[in-house]
Amino acid sequence: MSDDLELVTIEEAARIVGKTPHNIRDYIQRGRIGKYNERGERIQRAQNGHLRVSLKEIRIFLSLVEQGLEKHHRAGLHPELGFHNVPEHQRTKHVHRLHPYLGKFIPQLVEWFLARYFQPDAVILDPFMGSGTTLIQGNEMRMHTIGIDISPFNCLIARVKAAKYDVAKARAEILEIEQRVTRFSKYLTRSDEVNLSLFPEERMENLKASLLDECHSTYLRTWFAPRALLEMLYYRRLIPQYQYQDLLRVILSRAVRSSRLVPHYDLATPKAPLPVGDKYWCKKHNRYCMPIDNCITKIHAYSGDTARRIAEFDKLRSDKSITILQADSRTVDLRAALASTVIAHRPIDGIFTSPPYVGQIDYHDQHIYAYELFGFPRQDELEIGPKKKGKSKQAQQEYIQGIVTVFRNILPLVKPDGRIFVVANDRFRLYPEIAKQSGLRIVDEFHRAVTKRTEQGDDPYQETIFFMMKE
Ligand SMILES: C[S@@+](CC[C@H](N)C(=O)[O-])C[C@H]1O[C@@H](n2cnc3c(N)ncnc32)[C@H](O)[C@@H]1O
Repeated sequence: MSDDLELVTIEEAARIVGKTPHNIRDYIQRGRIGKYNERGERIQRAQNGHLRVSLKEIRIFLSLVEQGLEKHHRAGLHPELGFHNVPEHQRTKHVHRLHPYLGKFIPQLVEWFLARYFQPDAVILDPFMGSGTTLIQGNEMRMHTIGIDISPFNCLIARVKAAKYDVAKARAEILEIEQRVTRFSKYLTRSDEVNLSLFPEERMENLKASLLDECHSTYLRTWFAPRALLEMLYYRRLIPQYQYQDLLRVILSRAVRSSRLVPHYDLATPKAPLPVGDKYWCKKHNRYCMPIDNCITKIHAYSGDTARRIAEFDKLRSDKSITILQADSRTVDLRAALASTVIAHRPIDGIFTSPPYVGQIDYHDQHIYAYELFGFPRQDELEIGPKKKGKSKQAQQEYIQGIVTVFRNILPLVKPDGRIFVVANDRFRLYPEIAKQSGLRIVDEFHRAVTKRTEQGDDPYQETIFFMMKE
């Protein structure tokens, strides 16, 4: 470690040397410059907000580029698949941003492949649907889509994105429930904006007690400030009075996620709740911040936003079918599950999917607040390659077995010349073996630099899109 390194964040480095943050990440991925923490120690993996790079190393590297001794871009990385010029609002366009999701891919990636390898009216399957990116993008491109996911909450997010709404009615419901909870919040905080004699202290105490009676979750009682908890419980109580209940659940869940007693820089993987009212040093905002003590602020933030997003997708969506199955892709009887749909007798033209990877994410756990709030049944033990099982050799073998079982289960419904695309950051090179055991051959591999997946950390990485077909 040394002061000479001139450590800065990726964004600062990009500004100083006149490159894009993506360029700087690319230099890291290619091992041309190192990764450091704030103390100047070389690190393997950077935690959110901690990654630093050395200006000195970048300048040396760029002078080598000028002399023609180094290349600015990695050979072999597909130039179009980085999507560096696609702005954030496009990457998260319309319903793709209805709820955060760790491990989501961007719709532009799906679009790129579907446009080149499939025709409108094709039937596309995603056996690891997650929050439904393939389904929404495929529908926009006039394709029938089918998604399978083991996690009930992921299926809820996907169903809410895919649903056809009476847009005006949905908007009215969203705004009405928001208003009712706002009023509750004002009485709760004894705001002078409301006539408190209409809602005396004693009545409020009774209401609070009855709301807390409905809360059986230690998690909810621990991770939220008392005011935030009461507001979310009140919203939850009102939901059954409306038609678009799942839509309201997704808004509430998104608001609840952002109302946890966690630091701003660690919303995706918080370790422990912060004490109510305590300041902490925020690496995201570079100043002292306070954990949020209410939920209504986020309910405001996401209500109008959700109404706008579903209206936007409503204008783009096609009349092609979207089928969502909450099931284990290893064992689901897909033929039976599709029997009552408009694509019952159609073979599947292709697959576009991004499976979990060994030991990286616990997909149920990332939405623990939603499971606790709504009581959805959990199926953690059926997740393939969960983080809690680690990355050991044994975990890798189990993973291979899991993915192979999925392919063997679903491939009989795929056309003989069906095209299969699997997006994976295959750092253990497991996919050649998976392909072999599944009766697939790898036709091509596309490598892309992932600048920043929504909701993922600072660490730049690469992923491969395996193009496979049946042997
Ligand atoms: C990488 S994510 C997919 C993300 C998705 N492409 C998106 O954009 O939202 C992998 C998904 O596989 C699901 N999964 C894990 N094991 C499964 C199983 N046995 N059957 C079906 N889905 C499973 C997880 O719940 C997770 O949602």
